Amino acid sequence: MRFFSVLIVFLVVCGCNMGEKSKKVTETTVPERAPLSKDSQIFLGNRLFSEKTCITCHDVNKEKVGPSVKEIMTIYKEKNGDIVSFLKGKANPIVDTTASQVAIMQANIDGFLKNISDEELKTIATYMLHVDELNPE
Ligand code: HEC
Repeated sequence: MRFFSVLIVFLVVCGCNMGEKSKKVTETTVPERAPLSKDSQIFLGNRLFSEKTCITCHDVNKEKVGPSVKEIMTIYKEKNGDIVSFLKGKANPIVDTTASQVAIMQANIDGFLKNISDEELKTIATYMLHVDELNPE
């Protein structure tokens, strides 16, 4: 009987210590956010589209250095393309495959998009997907 009470005390003490250890771990890791609503994704995506300089080459409606967002999305919808994979450098271009143009865009994938999270990339793709609802002609 005595052995069991010692064992229980031992287990309780160990349990407390373990609790403290896991608390420390959670303190140093970034807590997970609740998932963003569709509107919040579009909002954040739109903001990142400016912050990451995309907007300087991609106007919503007209061609600038790169194709317009509407043109890109028409082709991506037609061909069932995956913007996130393209922006991660894991899918080939399908809009403009001219080598010099592809190189300009590739520099952004290697530069401005280097330290972006998957979630942020998804918000950019969501913004692009809904761009015509936000900017009707
Ligand atoms: C310096 C100019 C420039 C900037 C800045 C730029 N792009 Fe591009 N982008 C281009 C050019 C040129 C093309 C056409 C070549 C191509 O289609 O790959 C292109 C093509 C694309 C395409 C279509 C790719 C395909 O399948 O052909 C997507 C999607 C895209 N850009 C997204 C973005 C996003 C998102 C950003 C911001 C992070 C961005 N671009 C920033 C010049 C730019």
